[in-house]
Amino acid sequence: MELKNLPRRYYSHRRRAGFGLARFAWKCLATLAGLCSVALGGAWLSFAILGIEQEANAMSASYRVVAVNGSPHQSFGNTSLMLAMLKEGFEAEGVGLEEIFLNQHHIEYCAGCGFCLEKGGCWIRDDHKSILARVLAADAIILASPVYFYNVTGQTKTFLDRSLSYGHRPRGTWKPGLAVSVSAGQGETTVAQYLGRMLAAFGAFPVGHLTAIAIGPGEFLGRQAVEARAAHLAQDLFRALKEGWRYPATDQDLAFWLFMGHLVKENQGFMKADHAHWEKLGLYESFEAYVGQTRSQGGLDSEARQAWLQELMARQKETPKVTPVEAVTPVTRWSVTTMRELLEGMPQDLDPNAAAGLTATYQFEVHGSENFTAHLCIENQRASFHEGAAENPDVIIKTTPEVWLAISRGEQSGAWAYFTGKYTVEGDLNLVKKLDSLFPR
Ligand SMILES: Cc1cc2nc3c(=O)[nH]c(=O)nc-3n(C[C@H](O)[C@H](O)[C@H](O)COP(=O)(O)O)c2cc1C
Repeated sequence: MELKNLPRRYYSHRRRAGFGLARFAWKCLATLAGLCSVALGGAWLSFAILGIEQEANAMSASYRVVAVNGSPHQSFGNTSLMLAMLKEGFEAEGVGLEEIFLNQHHIEYCAGCGFCLEKGGCWIRDDHKSILARVLAADAIILASPVYFYNVTGQTKTFLDRSLSYGHRPRGTWKPGLAVSVSAGQGETTVAQYLGRMLAAFGAFPVGHLTAIAIGPGEFLGRQAVEARAAHLAQDLFRALKEGWRYPATDQDLAFWLFMGHLVKENQGFMKADHAHWEKLGLYESFEAYVGQTRSQGGLDSEARQAWLQELMARQKETPKVTPVEAVTPVTRWSVTTMRELLEGMPQDLDPNAAAGLTATYQFEVHGSENFTAHLCIENQRASFHEGAAENPDVIIKTTPEVWLAISRGEQSGAWAYFTGKYTVEGDLNLVKKLDSLFPR
């Protein structure tokens, strides 16, 4: 799909000047206008332009959202389109979005030397440092990557690897963030979860995850739903910024604090910078110190607790227990007690594979404790029960209910009962032999 085929709002943002540049331009204009107004004695022009400058300042006083995009497709990719959807939502609130394309930068692989854990920073000179500075200075952070082999792209991973020391040294901030991922249908939720967790390295937490399935550029599955989700998330992020949202601390936070605190303390001889950081921020002290949240006090003194306990126990006793529902015994040939019930239920037990190609009518003439005639028709791999005699039965079975019920339950051999005259057969005896496979137990 060509760029021009995409809705304009998804690419127009790339044409706009950077925000800092715009602000600078406004300042120049405003100064110029001031000079002009003095020179020309025209107050109107300066008022008008100063008014616009105030607006520009109001924008600049608003929040800075930075998105790190790890797709090599850069601004032509689906990840960028999703960021553009978010951007549209932010712009509605007067907030700009700064998108950093990792693919446009030179970032070396992590050497795995641990230098940063010891000394505090990385010795490799490339673009990583300046990108990191932009990310850390942001008010809200977005990590975005398409799925490459069930994971983030190499660009994203390299950027994250190079941020190792930040993973070891919690920033002590809980900025709102978002995780964005798109796949062709496999792995985008996992990757978004991962990116959401990685936000912590940069002092942010995920307000939400924006995920989508898309193959070609802009070919989103349920595009409207993706756009709607992006609009909601943009609003959430904005409100989180404005209202200083915090989400409740999680088991993942606790697991991280326990693990990393232990790791850094145990290895303080080597992880000098990390250890100093943990000590400086007082992070070793408690999980509460790490998450910056305190436990609310229950406020129950021992007397109040006793009263609470008694009340709880009393309520527990009063609560009516749910009466167990009587087990419903399924109707099987073991549970039926009459020949009629047995014959009526037989159509449900028919094995259609065994009945393939068979058309036959079985007539049963029952005498003794029950007296009736009925017949079963088998056709097109289905069986049906009918009262009375058939017009042209293929086989007639004459039996007492007790004998046939016992045979059907496997308590008596059908062949033996036949040879000993417990029931009689008129017509095709082979059809009687076939009953076992037609109606398996
Ligand atoms: C090397 C490579 C690996 C990929 N691996 C996966 C994958 O594991 N699962 C998946 O659903 N899509 C995979 N995709 C498809 C992309 O995730 C998908 O096309 C996505 O929309 C690209 O987003 P982008 O345009 O922002 O780069 C892969 C694509 C490439 C080039």
